[in-house]
Amino acid sequence: MNKLTLNADLKKGKINKNIYGHFSEHLGRCIYEGYWVGEDSSIPNTRGIRNDVVEALRNIKIPVLRWPGGCFADEYHWKDGVGPREKRARMINTHWGGVIENNHFGTHEFMDLCEQLGTEPYICGNVGSGTVQEMQEWVEYMTFDGESPMANWRKENGREEPWKLKYFGVGNENWGCGGNMRPEYYADLYRRYQTYVRNYGDNKIFKIACGPNVDDYYWMEVLMREACRFMDGISLHYYTVTGTWENKGSATDFDEEKWFITLKKSLFMEELIQKHSTIMDKYDPEKRVHLIVDEWGTWHDVEPGTNPGFLYQQNTMRDALVAGITLNIFNKYCERVQMANIAQTINVLQAVILTRGAEMILTPTYHVFDLYKVHQDADLIDLHLQSEDYEMGGESIPAVSASASMDSNGDINITFCNLKASEGVKVDCIFNSTDFRIGSMTGKVLAADEITAHNTFEEPDRVKPAAFNAAEKTETGFTVNLPAASVVLLTLKRE
Ligand code: AHR
Repeated sequence: MNKLTLNADLKKGKINKNIYGHFSEHLGRCIYEGYWVGEDSSIPNTRGIRNDVVEALRNIKIPVLRWPGGCFADEYHWKDGVGPREKRARMINTHWGGVIENNHFGTHEFMDLCEQLGTEPYICGNVGSGTVQEMQEWVEYMTFDGESPMANWRKENGREEPWKLKYFGVGNENWGCGGNMRPEYYADLYRRYQTYVRNYGDNKIFKIACGPNVDDYYWMEVLMREACRFMDGISLHYYTVTGTWENKGSATDFDEEKWFITLKKSLFMEELIQKHSTIMDKYDPEKRVHLIVDEWGTWHDVEPGTNPGFLYQQNTMRDALVAGITLNIFNKYCERVQMANIAQTINVLQAVILTRGAEMILTPTYHVFDLYKVHQDADLIDLHLQSEDYEMGGESIPAVSASASMDSNGDINITFCNLKASEGVKVDCIFNSTDFRIGSMTGKVLAADEITAHNTFEEPDRVKPAAFNAAEKTETGFTVNLPAASVVLLTLKRE
């Protein structure tokens, strides 16, 4: 028996659209081939950036894009990536396959991409191997409107006007690939580096500190204690890995037991947010500092035959469920979680798009972002869910996950996930409101005949949303019948 109570008149805060953000790194075929094909490519492009990808991403309204890494960010020297492309320095991408990075996609190309996408740039600076001066000059180069060495250089490189840049990260994973630091040491470095991340003119930077890895609560405690007043946001990274880091498991070849483990692990995001938020509340009870989950998603074994350093994985209904569950959790904690960035947009980890030469396909995760875009900047609605258990091997997790919001038109959108791999579930919804009487109910469902179903270049539309007609009004609200292993969007309009 599943019972959902919706108190539609009770708003619990705004769901920041940035929860639906993305992360794209110089890793494998994310930037090169994924976005960037170069101006001379036969693949249709605008100033070197693929048109098909831009169109697909505009459709899901990606609000913010984090770049250039990841681990790559703490080895990236931005000056190598500006000026005439043929003269740009080449470097080794030591983290990701040891391939040559020709720096053809740099600051100007990234800002152009963001303009084409209509998305806010979020740049991650280099603390691990970069200098304070280098970081200061990058911000000056991008945002200073006037006479200065960096602003003049930007103009020489073809950009007269400064860009608007809001989000700036001071290092990435400095507890690991970004320098293997202790939190006490990084907290001091953060205080120092961020001092020189200046606001030029009316450009106001929102500074993001490197936060903890998964459940490293000590890191959060030290950073909040020592540097809280110097930051606007602090990051959290958590990946859903079904097996071990050495043997993560196939993206497409799994049984129900593995399905269950994956979903259970993705639900752990809620505990992480609760515990990290408790520490943040101690130092920042007003919730001024945002928790920014700027890397999340599934991490499976790479597709057989592909470069292990490129992290190219397929994407099934299981990934769709992970996305649906995780986004419902972020919505629930929208007071503290104000941004999240799925890793990574194209051809890497839990991608929303896969490309092969001129071809492009959309993954099940893409379709979840498409269904969920209605929550962007909407008001979270108070919701109480009593879910039946989904049991497997002596363990249990809730069978249903849900989230509801009211958009600016006054429509209510509810997203449901049925975690059960092979059974449909019925949810009885009690709907309370003094001024919203349910008129029409329309919906979309993402489901498939197998939990391993995924899209391929040969069969690109195997998994795609269909109309959802399994909702019925009742005296107290409505009921929905969710198919096995599905993600559903239900829209309620006023009578
Ligand atoms: O997303 C892949 C990598 O995962 C990122 O570069 C790093 O920050 C994290 O460990």
